[in-house]
Amino acid sequence: MDHIKACIFDLDGVIVDTAVYHYKAWKRLANELGFEFTELDNEQLKGVSRMRSLEIVLQCGGITKTEAEQKLLAAQKNTWYMDMVNQMTPAEILPGAKEFVESCRDAGIKTALGSASKNSMTILNKLNIANLFDVIIDGNKVSKAKPDPEVFLKGAAELGIEPKYCVVFEDAIAGVEAAKAGGMKAIGIGDPVLLHEADMVISGLDKAPRPPKEGAGDWALNKI
Ligand code: BG6
Ligand code: MG
Repeated sequence: MDHIKACIFDLDGVIVDTAVYHYKAWKRLANELGFEFTELDNEQLKGVSRMRSLEIVLQCGGITKTEAEQKLLAAQKNTWYMDMVNQMTPAEILPGAKEFVESCRDAGIKTALGSASKNSMTILNKLNIANLFDVIIDGNKVSKAKPDPEVFLKGAAELGIEPKYCVVFEDAIAGVEAAKAGGMKAIGIGDPVLLHEADMVISGLDKAPRPPKEGAGDWALNKI
């Protein structure tokens, strides 16, 4: 059995409650373009880069736009999104998230952030939680979007830990797929039906089994 030596966390929807702001901003864009965009449609966007998300939104509405128009639409969505992010307070750190990451560090487990978001640093700094992570890989550091494992493999490489000793925490279908494609364990955060490819699904990091301080070898996550 491979004992876990590193935890890699997605940001949006795992550490902070920003997934809902992404949805609100895309829905507003869709509505202004004249079509509906549901929460189920939105599941396809979780973990997916900004430009790829826009392509999916436009497909949902059956709309074609030039590359220049797409850039403007993505920028508009990001402005609305950041307006909401700028109002955020530490209360929007998801329940148990900070405490769980801290418990990993206390037990000698390395921690990394692995997010598709180019806004990751702004969000982490705003909520004062950048120091929770030994390594931060965000949307500015990767060229291939989840479900490609690049973001997690870079995180593991920067931590100096082999993928088989890493576990990824993800709320996105594409993110769970990326973790598995990278040879890592995946803990899904959210709906067990949607995230069925994960090794375990929990409702949030407040429900994640914490590593014992003495000897993380006995950790429940080593047994999945
Ligand atoms: C991911 C989100 O974390 O980041 C996606 O799940 C989002 O919904 C992606 O599209 C890119 O984020 P940003 O902040 O760079 O637009
Ligand atoms: Mg996410």
